[in-house]
Amino acid sequence: MALIALAADKGAPGVTTTAVALGAVWPRPVLVAECDQAGGDLVYRLPAAPPEGQSGGGMLNPSRGLLSLAATARRGLRPEQVAEHCQRLVGGLDVLVGITSAEQAQGMTWLWGPLGRAFAGLGQVDVLADCGRLGAGTPLLDLMREADLVVLVTRATLEQVAHLRERVAALSEGLRGGPPIAVLVLADPRDFRASVAEVDRIITRRDGAGHPVGVLGGLALDPKGADLLSGQWGGRLDRSLLVRSAREVAAGLTARADRLRGERAGAGPAEPPPVPLLEEGRL
Ligand SMILES: Nc1ncnc2c1ncn2[C@@H]1O[C@H](COP(=O)(O)OP(=O)(O)O)[C@@H](O)[C@H]1O
Ligand SMILES: [Mg+2]
Repeated sequence: MALIALAADKGAPGVTTTAVALGAVWPRPVLVAECDQAGGDLVYRLPAAPPEGQSGGGMLNPSRGLLSLAATARRGLRPEQVAEHCQRLVGGLDVLVGITSAEQAQGMTWLWGPLGRAFAGLGQVDVLADCGRLGAGTPLLDLMREADLVVLVTRATLEQVAHLRERVAALSEGLRGGPPIAVLVLADPRDFRASVAEVDRIITRRDGAGHPVGVLGGLALDPKGADLLSGQWGGRLDRSLLVRSAREVAAGLTARADRLRGERAGAGPAEPPPVPLLEEGRL
């Protein structure tokens, strides 16, 4: 089903946290795949679901994931191979654990295109691919071209947004003819709507293929919620601002990805210009 690539331009705005928060509340079956070339973090952050019949959480196996998949995929990669390399977190979210060091990524540049096609070809599962930080000419472009939508995660600071605007321009060129780009703002809940609107004002443009590029919504900057995400899923986390805002973003993203798929298949109207999702101010 849908493949959504999440990435950042600079720094560590919160791509991995966003991917996990969205995955945790995604309205249909989903896989969070760690494709960050700098190495994955999930193994260190999140507990694996215990074997059936046991309680507690164990450690994710760092050798089962992207590395083991790459080792078997040299001669071609079929979508149905992906599931064998996934693991389940406490709480039930399925993940594909990333590489453990940036050095490993050097021999894997061939993988990203086939991996993107395999993700996009998964029948009943959406994929949220954490693509980490994008540099110029990143080989992850090959994966992103297969996505339905590329989502760039940013904080609302002026310097991050200014850099992001440059990255959007370069990425639009790199993805020409590929998926549209949208921006997700991690914003302070105290001035949430104003921050999201301000970033939208700076970013909104049309890319080289005439796609509208703009802000698709905001996720709450919520340190307590972000910390809780690395522990057990519980009532407090469920009510956190981070998770509540993630629900809204997840609903908007699935709807948009479906619409884009429909358009590409020749059905449905052209996508309307992006509007911030949180018009209702429900946070
Ligand atoms: N929505 C959020 N609210 C508060 N803190 C966050 C949020 N998202 C990320 N963080 C914090 O920012 C830091 C970087 O997050 P991470 O998700 O690893 O970023 P990236 O994947 O972009 O490197 C972590 O300390 C994390 O707890
Ligand atoms: Mg990360």
